[in-house]
Amino acid sequence: MIKFWSYDREYKKYKKIILKNIDKTINRGNIFFGDQIRNFEKNFIKKYKAKYGIAVGSGTDALLISLKTLNLKPGDEVITAANTAIPTISAIINAGGKPKLVDIREDYLIDVTKIKKAITKKTKAIIPVHLYGQMCDMDSIQKIAKKNKIVIIEDCAQSQGAKFKNKFSGTFGKFGCFSFYPTKILGGYSDGGFILTNDFNSFKKIKRIRFYGIETVEKTKFKNKYYANENGLNSRLDEIQSSILNFKLKKIDDFIRRRKQIAKDYISKLSSTNLKLPLENMNNNHVYHLFTVYHPKANIIKRNLDKLKIHTRTIYPYPIHKMKAYSKIIKNKKNLKNSEKKSRGIFCLPLYPELKKKEINKVCFSLKKILKKI
Ligand SMILES: Cc1ncc(COP(=O)(O)O)c(C=O)c1O
Repeated sequence: MIKFWSYDREYKKYKKIILKNIDKTINRGNIFFGDQIRNFEKNFIKKYKAKYGIAVGSGTDALLISLKTLNLKPGDEVITAANTAIPTISAIINAGGKPKLVDIREDYLIDVTKIKKAITKKTKAIIPVHLYGQMCDMDSIQKIAKKNKIVIIEDCAQSQGAKFKNKFSGTFGKFGCFSFYPTKILGGYSDGGFILTNDFNSFKKIKRIRFYGIETVEKTKFKNKYYANENGLNSRLDEIQSSILNFKLKKIDDFIRRRKQIAKDYISKLSSTNLKLPLENMNNNHVYHLFTVYHPKANIIKRNLDKLKIHTRTIYPYPIHKMKAYSKIIKNKKNLKNSEKKSRGIFCLPLYPELKKKEINKVCFSLKKILKKI
């Protein structure tokens, strides 16, 4: 069986170090806000060349906390792509905003030529989603945002380590939001997230919102642990997860190198087929969180692969406006045709650093055989 994703091989490889770190962390006596989160935050900020940043409970919370700093009023709109993950949208709504969807291009990223049309007097922010490991056209997005005085919050849940014109994802907008969900490029062994920012006041605010609205004086020390300066929430990254992520952060360049190598292998082996392979844009370092292919008969192909015990996933099978939870809120449904078309024909092949050469060969060999028959 070739699993779509699995952490057991990684765990086997690093088990000793991970367990030692966990043991050390518990013995130190801090479950929250100790050395581990402090070190992790410091290393993460340094790695991605940002000024400030905080670790939070999940990628969804990273988006929600960033959006909360905007104090959205009823009717305020936030633009994002129609093919994004559900949490991008739930964060907008839970922060009091209204999602405004824009269609996508052939590379599955927001169509920047269609953003202007979506902007109204109520538009307060835009969330470019760097889906599958590749960044959106940040030159155009920055120009549009500046001209229309709207805030950029980058959704980097799938793009940790990716670059646009040699600059890291998460450092273009006012906030860069990351996820450490286990399948992600930097995956924890539970939930986790991060917010990067270069703005000091925003940094102070996200730090308060992360922990019940309580003011911190320096690092993670609290001015008055039982006094809220504003209404916040509880979104802590615990010490155990911080210790695991801190260790894995040191390995991230190797993880990405291996992901890119696997993608290259898939591309060279599948380029003779009629599958639509991922498009890599110029000036873009694609980190291949996912290897997404398109074929009009995707469902038949997936079923046949499944019979051969090769697991694939469709990320994502429903554009946001097609779901019951959001269909009534989204008004501009007619202009989202490409997102709809792609959602019907995409599927993702197994891709994670521990995937073996013989497994990649088997996926490609089986795919080619199936494609010849259908
Ligand atoms: C594009 C995107 N945004 C946001 C999230 C939310 O991250 P988390 O699962 O850590 O809350 C995800 C994770 O699935 C994602 O893929």
